Amino acid sequence: MNHVKTGPVFLKSFRELPEVLEQELPIQKNRVMLVGDTNTIPLYGEAVASELRKVFREVGMFAFEAGEEHKTLDSVKSLLAYLIDSRYDRKDCIAALGGGVAGDMAGFAAAIFLRGIPVIQIPTSLLAQIDSSIGGKTGVDFDGYKNMIGAFHMPALVCTCPAALSTLPEEQFRAGMGEVVKSALLADADLCSFLVSHADEIRNRDEDILFEMIRRTCAIKAEIVRRDPTEQGERALLNLGHTIGHAVEKACHFSRLHGECVGIGLNAAAYMSLRRGKISEEEYQDILHMCALFGIPDSISGLTEEEILRNTKSDKKMAAGQIRFILLEKPGRAYIADDVTDEEMLCGIRRILQKE
Ligand SMILES: NC(=O)c1ccc[n+]([C@@H]2O[C@H](COP(=O)([O-])OP(=O)(O)OC[C@H]3O[C@@H](n4cnc5c(N)ncnc54)[C@H](O)[C@@H]3O)[C@@H](O)[C@H]2O)c1
Repeated sequence: MNHVKTGPVFLKSFRELPEVLEQELPIQKNRVMLVGDTNTIPLYGEAVASELRKVFREVGMFAFEAGEEHKTLDSVKSLLAYLIDSRYDRKDCIAALGGGVAGDMAGFAAAIFLRGIPVIQIPTSLLAQIDSSIGGKTGVDFDGYKNMIGAFHMPALVCTCPAALSTLPEEQFRAGMGEVVKSALLADADLCSFLVSHADEIRNRDEDILFEMIRRTCAIKAEIVRRDPTEQGERALLNLGHTIGHAVEKACHFSRLHGECVGIGLNAAAYMSLRRGKISEEEYQDILHMCALFGIPDSISGLTEEEILRNTKSDKKMAAGQIRFILLEKPGRAYIADDVTDEEMLCGIRRILQKE
């Protein structure tokens, strides 16, 4: 067991869950609803439930249909109805077992059921382990807008078991690496060097190296969230690569994975930082190289600059009509730019569009 301050508790296997829950979970162990998706429940549901049964009085199980397209109010409604049918009350809690989609929806249901019951996050995708399980943002997509409806609801505990990544499909692992690279670029130049020098072990999912990578990446997010839990300022830095990334995600109707779109958005943000003279051409090329090492895409075809710009400007991360763009001061340090012009954004967007 290893601890990161304000971050997750790390498990070598789910068998460590009872001990961790006894020591770290400051709530009554009455009933828990284990909520995952139609991939993670068949894979890990029973193994995790049998550990939870050693601690909780009763363990229920619920699976959402897997996939971002099911991250909807309707899916959350079906879980809420199941909780009501099962007569859950304020003494009960939810445990989210899965990637960011299951975690965001289970967390949102926990935030609004009976005005809030505790949620334990047990993330199983790389993206969820290094990002979505930490920090208490929960919610669903709405009317074509990502994460438009939601609530801040801090998990009572995050239990992260890197060994669960052994079953994660390759493209999902790659997408998770998009967020790892993002975190390194925005706050930790040493982590950038670590990623480049251990690229082979990471691609081969060497458990010790993955553990170190996840621990360091979580620490970045946990520290930023600790200082700014409700995104009044600094937490916006975590959106590096996301403004144009979300616009791309929407323009291609969510046919590309979130982490891949973040990688594409990173290229745009890095190029805009280069044009502002913040990073050198060599540093820009190093960033592209780091993304390429992990198969993270840096461009996309079949979209127009107009639609990406339009989506970028309708992204909810605008402050009083002005886009809050996250750019690089240098590799390993990001800043919030409130003065990005349409022309600058178009330059970034043209950079990521492949000619047909
Ligand atoms: N709340 C936050 O702060 C936050 C931060 C970043 C991203 N997000 C959200 O997270 C979502 C993306 O998360 P994601 O990439 O984990 O997607 P996901 O939850 O859809 O998981 C990806 C796929 O991998 C499967 N899977 C998960 N773990 C597995 C495992 N160990 N073995 C085999 N298959 C496994 C899932 O069933 C799914 O099919 C997006 O909706 C995004 O908006 C939230």
